[in-house]
Amino acid sequence: MTFNYQTGQLFCEQVALDSLANQVGTPCYVYSLDRLRANYQRLALAFDALQPTIHYSLKANAGLAVIRALIAEGAGLDAVSGGEIYRALAAGADPAQIVFAGVGKTADELRYALEQRIGCFNVESKQELLRLNNLAANLGVRATVSLRFNPDVQAHTHHYIATGHAAAKFGISEVETREILTSCDSYPALAITGLHVHIGSQLESAIETGQAAQRAVTIMDEFPQLCRLNMGGGFPVAYNDETYPPIEDFAAVIIAAIGSRKLMLGLEPGRYIVADCGALLVTVQYVKHVGDQRIIITDGGMTELIRPALYGARHPIRTVLSVDGVVSEAQVVGPICESADVLHPAVSLPDIQPGARLAVMMVGAYGSVMGSNYNARPRPPEIVVEGDTWKIARRRETWADLINFEQ
Ligand code: LLP
Repeated sequence: MTFNYQTGQLFCEQVALDSLANQVGTPCYVYSLDRLRANYQRLALAFDALQPTIHYSLKANAGLAVIRALIAEGAGLDAVSGGEIYRALAAGADPAQIVFAGVGKTADELRYALEQRIGCFNVESKQELLRLNNLAANLGVRATVSLRFNPDVQAHTHHYIATGHAAAKFGISEVETREILTSCDSYPALAITGLHVHIGSQLESAIETGQAAQRAVTIMDEFPQLCRLNMGGGFPVAYNDETYPPIEDFAAVIIAAIGSRKLMLGLEPGRYIVADCGALLVTVQYVKHVGDQRIIITDGGMTELIRPALYGARHPIRTVLSVDGVVSEAQVVGPICESADVLHPAVSLPDIQPGARLAVMMVGAYGSVMGSNYNARPRPPEIVVEGDTWKIARRRETWADLINFEQ
């Protein structure tokens, strides 16, 4: 177990989290690199039959230490902004192993990506194709493109993160995809050689992924110039005790759809690789009793983890030092001036007092990356753990950092 209790103390790998928190303060994020590598390898093994290129989706956690560890495992990267490409390159990524996705890429971002010789552009509209074609022609390069195909399936997930239905802003409809593919000559600076599909995140069923893959390969059969299929990410993780289809089920439906076709498969997993690697350590400041409610107020909140407020997500919360005695329900909140600033609305915890430390679990994906400076709160440090050693991958911001950009 990555996060485990040893003699009454919560550890990340072999690092005791209470003593770590004493040294770096709270709130702070802690990530296990061993777990990161193990998740990556488990995913690669599940898809082994297809030898996919795995482009880790940077949006889930774009810390340089995380990127470096995954590059060392052989991962490519999925970026959705010029900034993410910049981060990837700063971490030492091979530009040819980066795919550039996103529904609203600006001309500046596209130009930067072309100049850096990014491996593939996942294009989401005809207008973007034209823009990319012109920019590539001006630079005298030919860009490799996958069309983001919208397969019109309804993924089972939170509606904020479902992306493959016809009404979504994402992708190109089946009709328009065919239109573009029959008029590739209009884009002489582009090699349109693949389809890209991503129907949503935290997918609760693999069925729609299979349908989407089936629809994509049907189009690919009609257009032999298409030799690459990128099936995106979306593989789910259990935050609590939910049962989701295992990664092998997603592999099975994709393998079944591809059949005996000789095509190159790409994947863009984010959450699956990094979610359970991370915890957010916070310190209890006050405990209030309001009516029959126990409200535990900590020094971490929606600025460090917005998922409970935004999606109603439920992250497990554990005490860093185990506490004996009865447990009862509590609301765990942050210090921010919003009623939405809740880390957990109803979690079972023992009787704890100010000063106690809590670990909010499963925050490796979409945790720090979605953080903010709201209420002029400096961002917490990010710590990476390997075995019995740890280091500060990103230092805590200071109050001076907060005003640094103003003139
Ligand atoms: N590829 C594309 C085109 C995507 O849009 C996404 C996620 C991924 C790959 C990676 O998906 P994953 O494997 O991580 O599910 N903030 C939300 C999740 C937003 C996901 C957006 N797109 C959350 O905290 O649940």
